[in-house]
Amino acid sequence: MSSAEIPLATNAATPLALSTWNARAGATLERVLPAEDDPPSALSRAMRYAVLGGGKRLRPVLVYTAGTACGADPQRLDSAAAAVEIIHAYSLVHDDLPAMDDDALRRGRPTCHVAFGEAMAILAGDALQALAFEVLAGDALLAAEPALHVAMLRTLAAACGAHGMAGGQAFDLAAVGQRLTPAELERMHVYKTGALIRASVRLGALAAGCSDAQRLAALERYGHCIGLAFQIRDDILDVEGDSATIGKTAGKDVAADKPTYPAILGMEGTKAHLADLTAQAIALITPLGAPFTPLADLARFVAERTS
Ligand code: IPE
Ligand code: IPE
Ligand code: MG
Ligand code: MG
Ligand code: MG
Repeated sequence: MSSAEIPLATNAATPLALSTWNARAGATLERVLPAEDDPPSALSRAMRYAVLGGGKRLRPVLVYTAGTACGADPQRLDSAAAAVEIIHAYSLVHDDLPAMDDDALRRGRPTCHVAFGEAMAILAGDALQALAFEVLAGDALLAAEPALHVAMLRTLAAACGAHGMAGGQAFDLAAVGQRLTPAELERMHVYKTGALIRASVRLGALAAGCSDAQRLAALERYGHCIGLAFQIRDDILDVEGDSATIGKTAGKDVAADKPTYPAILGMEGTKAHLADLTAQAIALITPLGAPFTPLADLARFVAERTS
């Protein structure tokens, strides 16, 4: 059997983990976001629109799944879970701006700048980035362990900076119309999307007090594999998905002349690579034992998702 044919059966546990932790993250997000009428209300409404408008909430789900597998009480994971989703939401608002991907549809609705204007969308992104750090820094449970708390803040900062999401977006913009090598394409995807996904897994493990270097390394490597896999699946869905299902305009990557995995490796090669990364992720998790099984299920979900 070729790697492209590794069966990636949907596991019944995956939607359960997703919906349970998605709902828990939603409750925290609702609590930490400014109320609709909190002045300046246009900014508050734009921030709420960007964060509460649906989405899979995979990143907070990873914080909770990795953290509870490592033995943490979910309460210790709430602020990190909210913070990664807030950063993600900010990244989408800016990604959709006319100066970047110029997209009008996100999560089946008009993008933030279409709904609130470009200036307010830029500010909503700015304010969301600040809010993410305010939420994580303000966690009273974690503040009792200052070294751990700083390590978590630093993990989040690194994932969204010049060697993380923002850097990846810069590679992405510079790559329009270019033919990247597979190594350059991988670096772009690992930075722009992989870094925050990997950080989500690490944040869960750190909050749980995981100090086993080998286990942490395996979890980080797992995060790396599924982070890259996630963006590869996104590239595939841009080609094979329809706008109604993916909630964003399909076919944008080809139209904008973006280098993507299907453009560089072909669709068959891309799917084989996705299956390889998924198999690697699962192989890293299996030796960790039964409590970690939901992370393997999430690796399958990442590879199979249709939206
Ligand atoms: C979309 O992320 C942007 C990428 C990093 C590929 P998601 O597919 O996680 O978006 P939502 O949050 O579920 O809408
Ligand atoms: C987005 O990548 C990565 C981010 C850091 C937001 P894409 O530009 O492919 O994401 P979509 O397809 O617009 O969701
Ligand atoms: Mg983009
Ligand atoms: Mg985009
Ligand atoms: Mg995309």
